[in-house]
Amino acid sequence: MKVLGVNGSHRAGKGTAALLGAALEAAAAAGADTELVELSKLDIGFCIGCNRCMAQTSCALTDDMDELYGKMRAADAILLASPDYFGTVSARTKNFMDRTRPFHMVENVLAGKLGGGLATAGLNNCGGEGTLALIDQWLATHEMLAVHARPAGAPLAPGAIATGFAGLDEGGQPVWRSVKGDAIGFAIARQLGADIVALGARLGL
Ligand SMILES: Cc1cc2nc3c(=O)[nH]c(=O)nc-3n(C[C@H](O)[C@H](O)[C@H](O)COP(=O)(O)O)c2cc1C
Repeated sequence: MKVLGVNGSHRAGKGTAALLGAALEAAAAAGADTELVELSKLDIGFCIGCNRCMAQTSCALTDDMDELYGKMRAADAILLASPDYFGTVSARTKNFMDRTRPFHMVENVLAGKLGGGLATAGLNNCGGEGTLALIDQWLATHEMLAVHARPAGAPLAPGAIATGFAGLDEGGQPVWRSVKGDAIGFAIARQLGADIVALGARLGL
């Protein structure tokens, strides 16, 4: 089973990459072939709205998205991760979503593949859930099967969201930490990686 991770952060290797990496490590430990793609290292132009993809399963632009289209076709599961920017995905992540339009206007190229979303945010309760909701909507638009990891017992969080918020100081100002300090977010990310492979195995992927 191939699990492709796509990081829509502008900062390769930082918080969002770490959270996605944790999910992919768990998927690899469960037996998957994994790859993490940093969108910020690729040359991917803005969708120009030409609507060519309404008539054919291809994009008018020629750039690094071509190779990524191939990786998405080959993947059994796609994990999409984004930082929370004003309550939704980063512009880089959104443009990636836009550039996948050729995969669902004529035929549903990604239909039946598994998917999952991950988000990082500065603060708790400040947009992380909206970020995940948009990723879920993207998965649904492609007719992908979204996996929502849930721990056994009390649900710890609504999804794989890791934040940099470590409380308020005595003056009421936020104390920041690396998102890697968010034990719950990383636990759910690891569970997402494991669960997606477990579901893939049940489906014979
Ligand atoms: C332009 C901008 C907007 C942001 N908006 C929010 C926000 O609405 N809510 C929030 O909790 N954090 C917000 N953040 C913080 C990022 O989500 C957070 O720093 C994230 O972990 C960065 O991921 P990275 O380490 O991969 O860059 C924002 C950051 C930037 C730069």
